[in-house]
Amino acid sequence: MAKILWSDYFSVNNEFIDGQNQKMIAIINDFYESIQKGSTVSETESILNRLEDYASAQHPYEEELMKSINFSELEAHQQAHVDFNKRLMNEHQKYQQNRSTYPVHDLSSFLKEWLVNHILQQDKKFAPLIK
Ligand SMILES: [Fe+2]
Repeated sequence: MAKILWSDYFSVNNEFIDGQNQKMIAIINDFYESIQKGSTVSETESILNRLEDYASAQHPYEEELMKSINFSELEAHQQAHVDFNKRLMNEHQKYQQNRSTYPVHDLSSFLKEWLVNHILQQDKKFAPLIK
């Protein structure tokens, strides 16, 4: 899988969350493209900062929404967000500590897989409940 293509299949019936997921996909696609071209440090830094910003804006919104519908898997879902944010920060730090050997391809693959799986397997679970 190279780039992620948005389709309605990813929709969770909430305009804000769909918009945020589309932006996260766009950033992850930018990351993939920049790696293909041989990314600069400032590009990679800007991409990781944007991803962290979007994740920290979207996750609390989504968690509030799940709370408002008494979603039974809220805790596990919240934990998935926490784990992702920690991993992202951790990878960002590792990148900053050793930019020349840091495996950016692996991070790009992880981000693509995580986001696609998270939307389809976890975010999608609350979608029918907020219709
Ligand atoms: Fe989520």
